[in-house]
Amino acid sequence: MAENKSLDTEAARMASPDLGDWDEPESEKGLRPEHLDEYVGQEKVKENLRLFIEAARLRGDSLDHVLLAGPPGLGKTTLAHIVAREMGSAIHTVSGPNVEKKGDLAALLTNLQPRDVLFIDEIHRLPKVIEEVLYTAMEDFKLDLIMNPGPGARTLRIDLPKFTLVGATTRTGLLSSPLRDRFGVPLRLDFYPVSELQKIVDRSAKLLGLQIDSAGAAEIARRSRGTPRIANRLLKRVRDYAQVRAKVSVVSLRVAQDALQLFEVDGRGLDPLDRKFLVTIIEKFDGGPVGIETLASALGEERDTLEDVYEPYLLQEGFLQRTPRGRLATRLAHEHLGFPFLSKASPQGALFE
Ligand SMILES: Nc1ncnc2c1ncn2[C@@H]1O[C@H](COP(=O)(O)OP(=O)(O)OP(=O)(O)O)[C@@H](O)[C@H]1O
Ligand SMILES: [Mg+2]
Repeated sequence: MAENKSLDTEAARMASPDLGDWDEPESEKGLRPEHLDEYVGQEKVKENLRLFIEAARLRGDSLDHVLLAGPPGLGKTTLAHIVAREMGSAIHTVSGPNVEKKGDLAALLTNLQPRDVLFIDEIHRLPKVIEEVLYTAMEDFKLDLIMNPGPGARTLRIDLPKFTLVGATTRTGLLSSPLRDRFGVPLRLDFYPVSELQKIVDRSAKLLGLQIDSAGAAEIARRSRGTPRIANRLLKRVRDYAQVRAKVSVVSLRVAQDALQLFEVDGRGLDPLDRKFLVTIIEKFDGGPVGIETLASALGEERDTLEDVYEPYLLQEGFLQRTPRGRLATRLAHEHLGFPFLSKASPQGALFE
């Protein structure tokens, strides 16, 4: 059964939203929308951004700081680049955990031009001391530098150009509230409905010069875990299958289904790791509830990975439930994976399901 497969098989990673090393970011670049109009879906987010960008441009001002939150692969980095492009500004990118010293941040900030975008990915992993430096930079566009640390220390206050900080995070909950409160435009990205993923698949197929019929595109969209990155990844692997195995020039429903079955992405878009997650709760913990730490060690995975990458989709689709006593595999999970479901009464007599 799938749950006994090694976590490292390519099939296991096929539907993972993480950037696998076999699918280099280079290959994503060609498919990445460059303008807001090409960015499919997330209508509310786009509407907000359009308005604020236009207003900032009219005033010749910088855009207010933008926080982009949402699970991996939904288009946060893409959107950060689009914001800079639409503002006609340069983008400077850095990842939270890589900014180790105050000096690193100072160098970044003092290199900015007015209206530039400073994109901090994984902003929830910024060290605390750095975060504190960011507060005055965001609020007053000032940077306090301590000269000659020691008894003769003095603070030098430097004016910064008015810039836009775009922060991306998979976990808003991990952001401190002083930092969160300093973003004038907090935006949340949600999983994409199948209709929008189908548009993304169609768009990407065109860019790749691949023919796909609408049933084929819909099938890939349905199995993409609500995630554009996965849609693009599956499309490319289906293209390989069509060329090499099926030897057809048009991807049809049948070709898409056969390919995705080979890659072990099931009809609901769950991959071997999703299934292993649920099967472990069902088989080892009697369906749950089981604490996340216990589950993480049983799966040999980081708790963060489970919470960031696996859980959001399983929760949204109703395969998993979070209760005060831990995670529960729902009736749907049991049925989907072919296990009998025995509903459990809570101490209060209410049913956990
Ligand atoms: N709305 C969209 N329309 C079309 N393509 C999209 C959209 N959003 C994302 N994509 C595609 O999905 C890929 C992944 O998006 P992106 O790298 O922006 O995700 P992310 O949210 O930054 O992920 P992570 O949290 O892992 O950094 C992009 O290369 C792009 O091709
Ligand atoms: Mg990103």
